[in-house]
Amino acid sequence: MLSDIDSIRQDIEQFSSSDYNEIERFRIKFLGKNGLLPKLFEEFRLIPSEEKKIYGQKLNTLKILATDKYQLLKNQYENKASIVSSFDPSLPSTPLKLGTRHPISLVRKEIIDIFAKIGFTISEGPEIEDDWHNFSGLNFAKDHPARDMQDTFFIQTNPEILLRTHTSSVQVRVMESEKPPIRKIFPGRVFRNEVISARAHCIFHQVEGLYIDRGVSFADLKQTLLFFAKEMFGEKTRIRLRPSFFPFTEPSAEMDVSCSICNGNGCNVCKYTGFVEILGCGMVDPNVLEFSGINSKNYTGFAFGMGIERTAMIKYQVNDLRLYFENDIRFLKQFTSIL
Ligand code: PHE
Repeated sequence: MLSDIDSIRQDIEQFSSSDYNEIERFRIKFLGKNGLLPKLFEEFRLIPSEEKKIYGQKLNTLKILATDKYQLLKNQYENKASIVSSFDPSLPSTPLKLGTRHPISLVRKEIIDIFAKIGFTISEGPEIEDDWHNFSGLNFAKDHPARDMQDTFFIQTNPEILLRTHTSSVQVRVMESEKPPIRKIFPGRVFRNEVISARAHCIFHQVEGLYIDRGVSFADLKQTLLFFAKEMFGEKTRIRLRPSFFPFTEPSAEMDVSCSICNGNGCNVCKYTGFVEILGCGMVDPNVLEFSGINSKNYTGFAFGMGIERTAMIKYQVNDLRLYFENDIRFLKQFTSIL
């Protein structure tokens, strides 16, 4: 009888199944009315009483082992069955969350739309540029210190090739290939060798504007930029032009707009000056026109260039540049649009 108990115990321990019929056969084989365990209990009655104690213990342990195993397998089977039966394929699926446009794309589009209203169309140029289009063709002499204003990423094996530091490079390309009148904007990515911080990044976006025709004056530039500022930041916006320097424009200026947060009264966004700087601009230097084959006696023009991040910072009051590049969903989902 002892050897029977041992081999039955092994059979029970080794058994496993997820099939309903097999589990049921297991129950019948070991625990059913005519099963192996009831049979052992039957034999147990014939055992001499002095041996009953050890046999009794072994039989009870065996019975617990078999019932536990049966319960466990049965529960596992039923849980699985209930998961399968609760799946309703006719239910509508979980809706896909719609994405939103990136704030830089939103502001870029807004700038393009504003200038489209007054007849500006778009051109683009390469991000990997040559020295001519990024610097020399824009009147930066080879050893002029103005080159240091824009820390440049050069290609190590060929310093004539670089990542463009501004979208003014597209001005040169357009002037080389098109005849005036030219009325265009050039949106694009630019690169500068800057340490990344809340206020500077090694990659950012600009929109450049160029208008060349007969008799274009500084007054045209001013009026165009005033129109832009009002459209972008609201009808009450005022602009202010401060003299500045760029090798490719003469005269040159930087434009500030009245702070849209405090209406020019002073707050921490405008650092209590009432104005925030937004772009660089000026009349295209005659040298630049001549370099690209445009007769500077017949034609004049203006150019301007603005940072999209900078414009977005003013518009959305987000003062850390890095947020625009981290792609944190919690940040991005705040900018909704109907586009
Ligand atoms: N390219 C200049 C910059 O990146 C901006 C600018 C563009 C200034 C056109 C004048 C005219 O700072």
